[in-house]
Amino acid sequence: MSTARENWGSRFGFIMAAAGSAVGIGNIWRFPYTTGTNGGGAFLLIYLAIVIGFGLSVAIAEMLVGRAAQRNPVGAFRALGGGAWPLVGFGGVLTGFVILSFYIVVAGWTLAYIGFMASGSIDTTDPERLSQVFSGFVADPLRPILYSGVFMALTAWIVVGGIAKGIERWNKILMPALFVILLVLVLRSVTLDGAAEGLAFFLKPDFGAVTAGTFYAAIAQAFFSLSIGMGTLLTYGSYLSKQEHLPKATLTVAMIDTGVAVLAGLMIMPAVFAFGFDPSAGPGLTFVTLPAVFASMPFGAVFGVLFFTLLAIAALTSAVSILEPMVSYVVDEHRFSRRKTVIVASLICFALGVPASLSFGIWSGFTIGGRTWFDLVDFLANNIMLPLGGLFTALFVGWAWKRAAYELSNEGALKLPWTPVWLFVLRFLAPLGILWIMASALFA
Ligand code: PHE
Repeated sequence: MSTARENWGSRFGFIMAAAGSAVGIGNIWRFPYTTGTNGGGAFLLIYLAIVIGFGLSVAIAEMLVGRAAQRNPVGAFRALGGGAWPLVGFGGVLTGFVILSFYIVVAGWTLAYIGFMASGSIDTTDPERLSQVFSGFVADPLRPILYSGVFMALTAWIVVGGIAKGIERWNKILMPALFVILLVLVLRSVTLDGAAEGLAFFLKPDFGAVTAGTFYAAIAQAFFSLSIGMGTLLTYGSYLSKQEHLPKATLTVAMIDTGVAVLAGLMIMPAVFAFGFDPSAGPGLTFVTLPAVFASMPFGAVFGVLFFTLLAIAALTSAVSILEPMVSYVVDEHRFSRRKTVIVASLICFALGVPASLSFGIWSGFTIGGRTWFDLVDFLANNIMLPLGGLFTALFVGWAWKRAAYELSNEGALKLPWTPVWLFVLRFLAPLGILWIMASALFA
């Protein structure tokens, strides 16, 4: 049921769009606070090992499935594997709903912070005041929900218009702009008085703090950040031409994604220590720490507005890539109109986002197994669904899909010197590694 697929306009455009999916609030918001709550430098090292050790191979595998099948996640697994394999694609589609429901909440905060920065209402380096502003805002029963609705509407609007051209064009401008802003802020942050302590926390590994949970947090973060395991890479790969050197493109995207995460750490951690914030403060870290950096630099308000705007845009390019797989599935397989599908899917995600937002306020006392609704959906998506999606993708490409190695190289089977390594990772290292990490943390 595949329709003729639009292709990306250029290699650069594709790489920027895929990087636009990967680089999002996962890098700038979630990575620094996850590093902070998992011991700093040791987490960073384990994270890097997981990205190189199997994140990259699984990302290549997922993208390859899409490119070979040229269709949506469910259709792709059906076309190449048959049997029960489409369930993997279906699981990815469901994961999209779960992720988007909390993603739009945090993305909504970034919209609100653009306003706070522009109005100068939080022009202070006082940790207490900044924490109060943040907790006060996110606990509000109405405003954050409205912002998440606005963000969901923006995402829907882009996806209705068809993403290939619009998204590619925007990403080509916005991603480079993001790098520039990030570099400026890193420079300001690492030259703050007292930055050294933060750098040491972020870069010096303290293996005494490592537990099974550290590995688990790292794998969840790696898959979320690289957009692995829910069909996003698969769907983006389905718009990729067969002429493209897929492993090289994926490597570039992974390097950009990891580079931005490390830069975000270098931007946040020195400031955390310089201004006396708590590195293990959790989800609020970016929102309470960075305003202090802006307050302590010339034209801070300008940089503040710019930064949160870019963060919102980074979030938007990712949110689009979370919505697209489920939309392409419904449109391809059930022949619904794109517009109707996007509207219904967005309304569902928005509704699911309401309890996620309220769990920072009036529903903060409602917990399941010690987790608020927000923590629960984050955990479900990042610690269970994405790793399992990655696991089954690895198993599929490693064992079930016989043409995988052939598809990987344009010239023919196994020309690529790395192909045997890649297959080994997919067959053994990634599945066993993912299972071992999940089991040792869940049953510890
Ligand atoms: N990678 C995105 C981020 O870091 C989130 C994402 C997850 C996007 C899964 C697509 C699929 O913010």
